[in-house]
Amino acid sequence: MTNPFFITGIIPEPYFCDREKETQQLVRIIENKAHILLTSARRMGKTQLIYHVYEQPAIKTAFHTFYVDIFPTTSLHEMVLFLSKEIYSNLVPKGKKALKFFLNTIKSLTGSLGYDPVTGTPSFDVKLGDINNPELTLQEIFNYLEKADKSCIFAIDEFQQITNYPEKNVEALLRTYIQRMNNCLFIFAGSNRHILENMFNSAARPFYNSTEQFHLERIPKEIYTSFAIQQIINAGRAITTDAANLAYDLFEGHTYYVHHILHNAFANSNPQKTMDEEDIRNAMEELLDTRERSFSNIMNKLNYKQKETLVAIAKEGKASGVTSVAFVKKHALKSASSVQYAISTLLEDQLLTYEDNGRSKIYSVADRFLGYWIRRNY
Ligand SMILES: Nc1ncnc2c1ncn2[C@@H]1O[C@H](COP(=O)(O)OP(=O)(O)OP(=O)(O)O)[C@@H](O)[C@H]1O
Ligand SMILES: [Mg+2]
Repeated sequence: MTNPFFITGIIPEPYFCDREKETQQLVRIIENKAHILLTSARRMGKTQLIYHVYEQPAIKTAFHTFYVDIFPTTSLHEMVLFLSKEIYSNLVPKGKKALKFFLNTIKSLTGSLGYDPVTGTPSFDVKLGDINNPELTLQEIFNYLEKADKSCIFAIDEFQQITNYPEKNVEALLRTYIQRMNNCLFIFAGSNRHILENMFNSAARPFYNSTEQFHLERIPKEIYTSFAIQQIINAGRAITTDAANLAYDLFEGHTYYVHHILHNAFANSNPQKTMDEEDIRNAMEELLDTRERSFSNIMNKLNYKQKETLVAIAKEGKASGVTSVAFVKKHALKSASSVQYAISTLLEDQLLTYEDNGRSKIYSVADRFLGYWIRRNY
């Protein structure tokens, strides 16, 4: 029996929840030939949404679609490697002619990209060291996209990563190329809203005003819970409405976490009986148990001030006024300034996240499972 709650890979259509409005809006933006900046909290569903948009008939027939996640990259070399690899692997199933055209355009990589001389099968053997002149290869990649037989959409996920590259001119370089292109639209996505919005909204930066901005929110409760209940019915089983509500509420509808807990509850509960709130709670406990080791490791790497600040915020769930006397006192912290410093390092390590309500910042533990685990253990 297929578990209807996918927690890895690309989610096939019948198991994909909602996002109907968002999908329509993104398709419309693409049809109007605008680049897109897609942001959301981590694990809200950006990547899945991009793939879902790519599957829409209007997009699938009219565009070549590419997707690359540059989170692991730390230099322009690597980014160029990732982009060429993505194009290459998309073209392989399309046959020799398509591939040949690409190979002819990317001259700077001739030798490491092409066909295995013995077997004649396509091979991608580009090493970082082969990319001697990343700017040139990048230009060739964009030339290729510009000349492709169909319009292209290129999604670059975790785009904020380019601000960490040692090369100074990457933003301006990309912007210059992209501005000149008529045949390719870009979806820049990422979860670091602060960095990305700065990049796209400040007049002094190259990407200023170059995209339609789209912020992805949680799936509404009514829609998510009806979906979950229906999926479980389709699988020949049942769940109470209260249990579906609980799964949603535990994580305020944060997609990955809700989905994960439903996945585990489905996998581990008795298939003969209706899933109830206890099954959700059990799934939660088991999940926290299995993460024990990795969460302990995270805590282990923190210094004392970081740890006490993280614990204080986990205990609050959502913490505002973190540098107020009241907060510092309530959680027996050292001082407002040490809290402030700890928070800045925890944000950098993506252990904390925040929402800005206009007046102040509201902090929470970025990984909601870790938040629960800290509350259980400290
Ligand atoms: N529309 C959806 N239907 C069903 N499950 C979803 C949907 N969107 C997201 N999910 C679930 O949430 C998980 C995370 O989604 P996704 O990877 O798209 O989030 P993300 O915002 O790109 O995360 P990250 O910030 O880590 O890159 C998926 O693996 C899946 O389990
Ligand atoms: Mg993602």
